[in-house]
Amino acid sequence: MGDNRLGAIADDLATKGWTWQPDLMPEKLTRALREELIARDAAAALEAAGIGRQDAYQVDRSVRRTRITWFDGSTQAQKEFRAWTEALRIDLNRELMLGLFEMEVCFAVYPPGGFYDRHLDSFAGARNRVVSLVAYLNEDWDEARGGALAVWNEGACEEDAPTARIIPQPGGVVLMLSEAIPHEVEVTQETRYGLAGWWRVNQSGVGRIDPLS
Ligand code: OGA
Ligand code: MN
Repeated sequence: MGDNRLGAIADDLATKGWTWQPDLMPEKLTRALREELIARDAAAALEAAGIGRQDAYQVDRSVRRTRITWFDGSTQAQKEFRAWTEALRIDLNRELMLGLFEMEVCFAVYPPGGFYDRHLDSFAGARNRVVSLVAYLNEDWDEARGGALAVWNEGACEEDAPTARIIPQPGGVVLMLSEAIPHEVEVTQETRYGLAGWWRVNQSGVGRIDPLS
């Protein structure tokens, strides 16, 4: 990644806690991940139909209507994604001294009507997720399809209007401080493909208090 781009990302994260970077992910990687996600989703839907379940991967429908599947590192596309995020992790650690360590990643499909209510990705103080990365894998997208990502600044009230509404265009990447930045996926009209990853810090020795006896 170029120094300018990296500088902009580091500045945004340091000053406002989030950044939107259109076209950050290489096109070839976006395409490979999209193809994998579509194939996985179709297979899971078939499996779910076979065992009489309505949805492939059910998550709490009151706050979230989406299907997720965790990365298992088994495919070329996932390996390339890992290599790409690893370079980003090293850059971010150097620029911001965040001590990012390992990343967990899941694919997410939002079917028509899908959404994810306003939330934080991590509870304050838990340090289990430090920086969140969302990448969009749609073929193309425009505002009329819905599914925008609304982002609030740290400390904003529920009643406050979002600071930004991001249209999930292919290859675009959002980075956010997981404990600080509230965000929400607005209802989508069409199937919306993406992935979400979270970097953790190395927990060994951090905040660990030995028992007194
Ligand atoms: C998440 C999330 C945002 C998006 O998966 O936690 O907030 O735009 N995703 O898909
Ligand atoms: Mn989130």
